[in-house]
Amino acid sequence: MKNNRIYLSPPDMGEIEKGLLLDAFNSNWIAPLGPNVDGFEEEMADYLGMQNACALSSGSAALHLALKILSITKDDIVLCPSLTFVASANVILYENAIPVFVDVDPKYWTIDLISLEYAIKKYNPKALITVDLYGQSCDYDSITDLCEKYNVFLIEDAAEALGSEYQGKRCGAFGQIGILSFNGNKIITTSGGGMLVSNNENYVKKARFLATQAREPDLHYEHKELGYNYRMSNLLAAVGRGQLLVLDKRVVARRKIFQRYFDALSQTAGFEFMPEAPYATSNRWLTTLTVDSKITGVNRTQIIDALEKENIEARPVWKPMHLQPLYKDCDYVTVGSEDVSKRLFENGLCLPSGSNLSLEDQERVIDIVLNCMSD
Ligand SMILES: Cc1ncc(COP(=O)(O)O)c(C=O)c1O
Repeated sequence: MKNNRIYLSPPDMGEIEKGLLLDAFNSNWIAPLGPNVDGFEEEMADYLGMQNACALSSGSAALHLALKILSITKDDIVLCPSLTFVASANVILYENAIPVFVDVDPKYWTIDLISLEYAIKKYNPKALITVDLYGQSCDYDSITDLCEKYNVFLIEDAAEALGSEYQGKRCGAFGQIGILSFNGNKIITTSGGGMLVSNNENYVKKARFLATQAREPDLHYEHKELGYNYRMSNLLAAVGRGQLLVLDKRVVARRKIFQRYFDALSQTAGFEFMPEAPYATSNRWLTTLTVDSKITGVNRTQIIDALEKENIEARPVWKPMHLQPLYKDCDYVTVGSEDVSKRLFENGLCLPSGSNLSLEDQERVIDIVLNCMSD
């Protein structure tokens, strides 16, 4: 019989979440909005040290509204790191704006500052979307300075980085607007969901307005603007409130999982783990490493295939946007001697990292990875 499947990053739910969900159910606050939505927004804003938050149906919805709120429209240029999940970039196209992709830094895998300044000078963008990749915070002091100097809006895509920190301040709290995701694979989940956070109250009011079909405050249904159905339901917000209570524990668990992989595999020549930037604490959402096949004798795909044969899910690092057919005609800025995003994709591997991964299952993963090299 096959072993139970080990997933890359499955939900990790407990009794607290279940209790809160049932309470919401029993109170008949099922429909969108309700006390759990308000509570989840307040508690998340507190957690991040922010003034305001708006709970939404997804991180993608939060990104989309961020662009709308900052009045990004047709032909505006928006910078975005190439190495990210496609949702970071798609919202630029939703608004018929023009994405320009920027390479990442070879050391810490987040947006490369030299390429970024070059791109800002060359393209005069209206906004920059930064991505805290796999939980690694960007270097926000430098990025904020650049954005202020050149008058560029900053949107922080912290979908993967809830619980991570930059200089002791929590990810999601940088930029005019930050966004979070509670998709099923994230460090905490509401099955699907997201949040937009900002210290600007008007931005968050606008998010609430646009996310409820831009309904004017009249008794009848009055609409002057194009809106969306993007709000989070009260049931899912109940789950989110429970998950937020255990978030710090989830960060500890994921960091331990990273450490065990690191201890077991980092001595192997040709394996290089994503380092933690000295200014940041990563939530280690996914443990990622690169595999130099010239040294190890196996490439990342062979390792993924070997794990899959044993019913274990592993994945390549995100395929960069400038290599995606959808974005093939967009400009890409990389000023270094190599295309770092491309190399990280070609060699990068994400290992199962769920906070409920048992020690035994993690050892299975490690044994299979090590065995690949002796085959
Ligand atoms: C970097 C990044 N941005 C945005 C998103 C979109 O979030 P959602 O799936 O909640 O729409 C995700 C993940 O799903 C992500 O990894």
